[in-house]
Amino acid sequence: MGTAVQTLDLPGGAQASAQLLPALQGLLRDAGLTWSDLDAIAFGSGPGAFTGLRTACSVTQGLALGADCPVIVLDTLMAVAEDARQQAPQGCVPGDVVWVLQDARMEELYVGAFTWDGTDWQVAQAAQLWPLTEPVARWGQDARATAGLHLCGNALQAYPDRFASLWPLGATVLGEATAAPRAGALAALAQRAWARGDTVDVALALPRYVRDKVAQTTAERRAIAQAPRHIDRLMTEADIPAVLAMEQAACVHPVHAWTDDNYRSSLRSGYWMRVRCEADSGRIVAVCVAMDGVDEIHLLNIAVAREHQGQGIARALLGLLYARCRDRQASLLWLEVRPSNERACALYIREGFVEVGRRKGYYPAPDGREDALVMRRNIDLGGATRAVD
Ligand SMILES: CC(C)(COP(=O)(O)OP(=O)(O)OC[C@H]1O[C@@H](n2cnc3c(N)ncnc32)[C@H](O)[C@@H]1OP(=O)(O)O)[C@@H](O)C(=O)NCCC(=O)NCCS
Repeated sequence: MGTAVQTLDLPGGAQASAQLLPALQGLLRDAGLTWSDLDAIAFGSGPGAFTGLRTACSVTQGLALGADCPVIVLDTLMAVAEDARQQAPQGCVPGDVVWVLQDARMEELYVGAFTWDGTDWQVAQAAQLWPLTEPVARWGQDARATAGLHLCGNALQAYPDRFASLWPLGATVLGEATAAPRAGALAALAQRAWARGDTVDVALALPRYVRDKVAQTTAERRAIAQAPRHIDRLMTEADIPAVLAMEQAACVHPVHAWTDDNYRSSLRSGYWMRVRCEADSGRIVAVCVAMDGVDEIHLLNIAVAREHQGQGIARALLGLLYARCRDRQASLLWLEVRPSNERACALYIREGFVEVGRRKGYYPAPDGREDALVMRRNIDLGGATRAVD
């Protein structure tokens, strides 16, 4: 691979597969090369749009087989980071971590984080699928976590309102978003990979899928379109009356519900407090409160509006909490629950919590006091996770 870089950017989209081969042919011709001169073929393996990934992968496979050369499999999110850095080289110094947020449609994001070491990128967090609300939920409440955060990717442009609260806290945008990383970024990554000898046999050139199931049937798409959509966001003081009303009605007995004081003091303490709302009406349908400790997190409260119970909302919120545990390297999640609260006990046991103790007379009850079961769940901090918080 020489040092002269010649690139061509095509618009992509539905016509891309028809244009790709003639365009590559033209690029080679302009460079005075033929297919047999190629040392390797590099492609962006994703995550990204399903059809685009398949086109890139299958064209690469076909050409590499024909040219009898190895393949360089590039991380598309890393290419987005590289693209942003190329546009704003002064905005990124060695040691900086750049978070890439790419629009994954369906209110979701492809997210990865990369550390710039001065000559190349190191993966700080491999590609994951996040809800669109996740960056603000994760970074939008603590300027210490947000200051100095470098963000890039097309989601910032696609959903500017959804990230607006991060900028006053000190997050910055690196480069200018494009729909996909430009060829120059892919070429730079490919050159570095080639220098490291990072090539694979053509049979191993595969798309990188992050979504478990990418293609949906028409019926599934219709069902999703009709399903009530929810938005998760941070709870604020203004939410307290609605949350109190929702929880009072959700609980077996009103004395089980949290009080105005409980919510206010939790907000003052800076606990992790999230509400899940109906996307169209904004109505709050669930609340979840947790307290960070050292190496552990304590679930303080979770409640789901009565008419929304049994739809997996509590489990989904717990899923966010597990991801937060992993993110904060907290290997234990603790909670207390009334033994009489059969639903909650069933939920926690189902979720893998185990009983580790009992606090006598811990809770107020309609007829005096009630014990609390202390439950704990181990959080596996290793391996790939679908972290959403
Ligand atoms: C406990 C509570 C949070 C569960 O919320 P939810 O959104 O209905 O729960 P999910 O739909 O996610 O259900 C998860 C699991 O909970 C259990 N569960 C839910 N509803 C149940 C019911 N009616 N009966 C028995 N178990 C039930 C099941 O194990 C269920 O798993 P499954 O659907 O695979 O069978 C909800 O009932 C609630 O808000 N209760 C009032 C407040 C409260 O008691 N909070 C707990 C404080 S410790």
